[in-house]
Amino acid sequence: MANESPAEDIIKRRTVFYRSFGIYAEAGGFYDYGPIGLRMKRNIESEWRAMFPEAMGLVEIETSTILPEIVLKASGHLATFTDPVATCGSCHTSYRLDKLLEEFYSARGDDEGLAEIRRMKLNDMLAKVESNGIKCSRCGGRIGNPENFNLMFKTQIGQKGTDAAYLRPETAQGIFMGFKDIYRSHGLRLPCGICQVGKVFRNEISPRQGLVRVREITQMETELFIDKDAGFSGFGGIGSAELEAERIRFVKRGTGAEGEFSIKELLAEGAIPNEYLAVLLYKEKRLIERLGIGMEKYRFRQLDKEELPHYSAGNIDLEIKTSYGYIEVAGNADRGDYDLSSHAKLSNTDLGVISNEKKVLPHVAEASIGVDRLLFSVIDGAVKDDGRGWKVLSLSKSMAPYMCSVFPLQKDDGLISKAEEIHRELGKRRISSYYSESGSIGKRYAKSDEIGIPNAITVDFDTLKDGTVTIRDRDTYKQVRKKISEVFEAVV
Ligand code: GLY
Repeated sequence: MANESPAEDIIKRRTVFYRSFGIYAEAGGFYDYGPIGLRMKRNIESEWRAMFPEAMGLVEIETSTILPEIVLKASGHLATFTDPVATCGSCHTSYRLDKLLEEFYSARGDDEGLAEIRRMKLNDMLAKVESNGIKCSRCGGRIGNPENFNLMFKTQIGQKGTDAAYLRPETAQGIFMGFKDIYRSHGLRLPCGICQVGKVFRNEISPRQGLVRVREITQMETELFIDKDAGFSGFGGIGSAELEAERIRFVKRGTGAEGEFSIKELLAEGAIPNEYLAVLLYKEKRLIERLGIGMEKYRFRQLDKEELPHYSAGNIDLEIKTSYGYIEVAGNADRGDYDLSSHAKLSNTDLGVISNEKKVLPHVAEASIGVDRLLFSVIDGAVKDDGRGWKVLSLSKSMAPYMCSVFPLQKDDGLISKAEEIHRELGKRRISSYYSESGSIGKRYAKSDEIGIPNAITVDFDTLKDGTVTIRDRDTYKQVRKKISEVFEAVV
């Protein structure tokens, strides 16, 4: 397993994303997006928006990123949102015990060891660290003092700044608290869904692997609200038969082995807890396909009981194979009525709604997708060698940061002015384009290819005579000559 992405060099040189406040070399685990990365991140959000809220008829909201302590007491995060951590007795470096063991077993290709960690509690992990002779990687000291470390960032609010609050660890809580009002004001009926895209914050103790283990994350979350006693007759434009016939790559709990199964079989065995969760898996598979992630790279994994988040009766992760191995890019949870019932109790508010002429507290199926990891997976998997010593990002059009580049062949006033005119005209038609006039045309093609722009339009001296340009394809390098008026259709 490689521990560096083949995209590393492009990511760094083109500032796709880069360490926040890097000039101070301060806290790791925070990343800023440059112009290219931001465009790609927005592409992911916009594909998700088209496939989840828009295509499924769900509503989207935006809620506060700061939550008073009581909210997180109700949600269970205050008591249980922890990672197993231990520190070096000599230099006091902190380690996440699960990740430390994961790295140890991965390096040995020990899949059984890896599966075992998922089922371990804090002290068992420390015992494994000791029995395997794993020491502090900085100073060789003994690792000890295990604790369940709460991942939330604490802050204060109120007039005197004395009331405890936290940066939200998931967007879901805002959805649960707003559920009843949104339900009423939007004339929703069960089953229905509310979504949100936004930042969440987790104090990852040992951030690493670029966007994979970070402290500030963008989530795209969908909460489906269900009457658990009502039958399923399709949801979000997906009928029962279509859903059940879908085949997905899946790792069943406890087996470690991966296979392809129909959703029907997985539902019948209880590996997928209910049809609504199955709908979310179905949509996620379509989303990654649309983003250009190879279908051989994804799998769903049913979590072991010991791995379940505190609110979940059953979880299925979407994992993508990258240069760092499989990484979780989405968690799908059967949250039951855990959240609504806790918030109802602690806030003394009735959060039930009428369904089929009776009052019900809806159950929830959740899809929580991490945008940053998804972005990394897309880039990591898109790197190709062009055979001439350059790397190319072979991105799908849905992920490309710009639809095309526009280049004057050389620095000539007439060519520049025509190229600028085409660049502006593309913009007016909402076709994104990347303009550049510096460097040789060969280098500009290479720089356009390495950030995945599918086509390059070049203005040359013939353009000034006959109004045609060349359009060059990123993957085949083939050039065709087209009238300027035909370019706008050709590049989208
Ligand atoms: N809402 C699930 C999570 O943030 O992990």
